[in-house]
Amino acid sequence: MGTLFRTKTVERSIRETEVSGHRLRKDLTALDLTVFGIGVIVGTGIFVLTGRVAREYAGPAVAVSFVVAGVVCALAALCYAEFASTVPVAGSAYTFSYATMGEFPAWIIGWDLILEMALGAAVVAVGWSGYFASLLSGLGVDLPSSLAGETARFNLPAVLIVLAVTAVLTLGIKISSRINALMVVVKLAVVALVVIAGLFFVKAANYIPFIPPPESTDTVEGVRAPLIQVLFGVTPVAFGWFGVFGAVAIVFFAYIGFDVVATTAEEARNPQRDLPVGILGSLAICTLLYVAVSLVVVGMQSYTELSESAPLSDAFKSVGHPFFAGIINVGAIFGLTTVVLILMLGQSRVFFAMSRDGLLPPWLAHVHPKYGTPARSTVFMGVVVALLAGLIPLSALAELVNIGTLFAFVLVSVGVLVLRRTRPDLHRAFRTPLVPLVPVLSVLGSLFVMANLPVETWIRFVVWMLVGTVIYASYGRRHSKLLTAPEKSSRSVI
Ligand code: ALA
Repeated sequence: MGTLFRTKTVERSIRETEVSGHRLRKDLTALDLTVFGIGVIVGTGIFVLTGRVAREYAGPAVAVSFVVAGVVCALAALCYAEFASTVPVAGSAYTFSYATMGEFPAWIIGWDLILEMALGAAVVAVGWSGYFASLLSGLGVDLPSSLAGETARFNLPAVLIVLAVTAVLTLGIKISSRINALMVVVKLAVVALVVIAGLFFVKAANYIPFIPPPESTDTVEGVRAPLIQVLFGVTPVAFGWFGVFGAVAIVFFAYIGFDVVATTAEEARNPQRDLPVGILGSLAICTLLYVAVSLVVVGMQSYTELSESAPLSDAFKSVGHPFFAGIINVGAIFGLTTVVLILMLGQSRVFFAMSRDGLLPPWLAHVHPKYGTPARSTVFMGVVVALLAGLIPLSALAELVNIGTLFAFVLVSVGVLVLRRTRPDLHRAFRTPLVPLVPVLSVLGSLFVMANLPVETWIRFVVWMLVGTVIYASYGRRHSKLLTAPEKSSRSVI
């Protein structure tokens, strides 16, 4: 039993990053990290989900949902920042948990992060393919519906973008971050265009009612009902305050990614100082953008008329400006590309860290001698994500990405409290303010958002975690480096 909770010391984690053959190149600056953050955060959430969520859950009050989700993320970000500045090792929440709560919780979180990053990347790649197909059709080239979009049997553009991104990631982190920076500039320009140009078309009447009265709709029927509403025995409703909170759980997707900045910790030049800047800076910028964009879009068009697949560009079509709509589509394609890129970057680093620790097969932890990247874990992940994106209809699984990420937030916030107790001596370049208040609020906030996710998402999440437990019991537990290459200072907390 004790072995389940054996921890890997922070010192050992840091020392192992220096072992030759496993050393990543340290190339990223604070600006690179902030741009990485924005690159991965601004994507499907704002370009696609805003419309669906306003229509189905929150009405014009979707902007309030964005604020609430932003606050929950800020609390978690303060905890991530402390951890990332204390344990600057690839693998993010996985590595943190290994240093604090022990091996089994760490495995669980690593397994859970697959939902956030690999599944998240596949979901966004499918969204990318939708925008790409619509751009091509604007140019007169129509892809058959069996090859693109939500109903595709084999989603070809989604597979191609995933494979292209895999190739870029294999070639080197600095190249990835340059391509990313370019696309982030385009994406931000387009979002700024929406806000500034859109302001001229806002009609006050569209904000009334700001929070539409609650109603029972088929969006929240059966297993689609948010868990919290079922637990409290209320008849599931959309709109009203319950709807606004249900919307928080969905638009949370828009914020996913600031934590991915922490997975590149080992590749930052000055992680102790730069990681907190990257994490908190990108989150703050994105929260402002989201609130602005959502207020403008629901002001341009009645929430009942917003488009489900391309709300930003369609809002401009609805006010007679298809030219702007075209520009926004191009921005969305760039924007979603960077999201896929960085989610996959994060995933490859988590696979890398887990295999370096022996919880996954060690050949995945090899670093390419020329490119300095974990090439094998990158290609392995690329193939997995391409298959997911190509073959499985993913829109239903997007909420699974949210629950996986929120669960990681809970563990990281608890981890901050644990590490303050078990290792008060460690140097913390960034300290979470108001401990224990902030970590406790972060846990409660994340649990509250999780409780607003549909029952079916919870069922899928539990099944995924059970599968992970079986894999750990049959492989990781026996191959862990803590078992095969122990050192005196690694200890068990139980
Ligand atoms: N936050 C990212 C997006 O909205 C995952 O696409």
